Amino acid sequence: MTFNFEYNRIYDVDCIDGLSYMNPQEVDVIVTSPPYNLGIDYNQYDDNRPRDAYLDWIEQVAILCKKVLKDDGSFFLNVGGSLKDPWIPLDIAQTIRKHFVLQNTIHWIKSIAISHEDIGQSSNISEDIAVGHYKPINSLRFHHDCHEYIFHFTKKGDVGLDKTAIGVPYQDKANIRRWKSANKTDSRDRGNTWFIPYETIRESRPHPAVFPTKLPEMCIKDHGVAKTDLVLDPFMGIGSTAVACVKLGVNYIGFEIDSEYANIAEERVLLEKERLTFVDPKIKHAVGLKNYELGSFIKI
Ligand SMILES: C[S@@+](CC[C@H](N)C(=O)[O-])C[C@H]1O[C@@H](n2cnc3c(N)ncnc32)[C@H](O)[C@@H]1O
Repeated sequence: MTFNFEYNRIYDVDCIDGLSYMNPQEVDVIVTSPPYNLGIDYNQYDDNRPRDAYLDWIEQVAILCKKVLKDDGSFFLNVGGSLKDPWIPLDIAQTIRKHFVLQNTIHWIKSIAISHEDIGQSSNISEDIAVGHYKPINSLRFHHDCHEYIFHFTKKGDVGLDKTAIGVPYQDKANIRRWKSANKTDSRDRGNTWFIPYETIRESRPHPAVFPTKLPEMCIKDHGVAKTDLVLDPFMGIGSTAVACVKLGVNYIGFEIDSEYANIAEERVLLEKERLTFVDPKIKHAVGLKNYELGSFIKI
């Protein structure tokens, strides 16, 4: 039995149930970050399961994701490890490998230090730089963990990407003409290392394991906004993927087992819609807003 889920809603249900009821081949992009089984202190979910049971569950989720994903869709899975359990992201990838092709391994870089001497003369950076945040650790053995994985899975490994949509400008502008693949715009492939710092927030964190909204935003753009009708996040948390979708003007569906997080997610979506109603109409047009009656969110 299937159910036609209304778009642009976050359902307070177990994703196994939600995914089971979704129509096959409905989704263009899945962007998500599951619990990593590292003992994180969520409101409801117990993040401490026996390894085998956890990986079996992840496999079940992956099988259902494959069902709902279109044949030319993209499944971006963000996972990180810990100093005590550095293998978990790779164990997850090995499990999902049974059902998907690993088309790209992207590294989400949270913090980076670059020495001026390594940059080269053409850069306008004149000194050593260190940007971004990470969780500091007190240990002589380990470095700070400054990265997580974003595994880009597809059904056959042949999905064309819109790489220049998240590209970086050429440093040497002569290359715009020189490289045939550059489609003559000042944007080149940024590669598979994506520096995305955490958003700085002043109030206490309502969720212990969020990703920045820029992460799903970049994944969706990389797949191609023009060919994306529906984005799914089966572990929606407090709605970072939904907020990214509102920004980009694409439809989303989310599942989140914890109603407190799901409510915060809905609030964040409303705030984002409100924020967009106050920006210049030209910008609204540029981000391609098409799914919302913006007038209903304008504050009086
Ligand atoms: C890593 S967090 C995702 C955070 C999200 N990316 C964000 O930025 O807000 C994983 C989330 O999965 C939720 N979760 C755990 N088991 C679930 C299930 N079976 N179905 C739906 N959500 C679940 C947890 O409550 C948690 O909020």
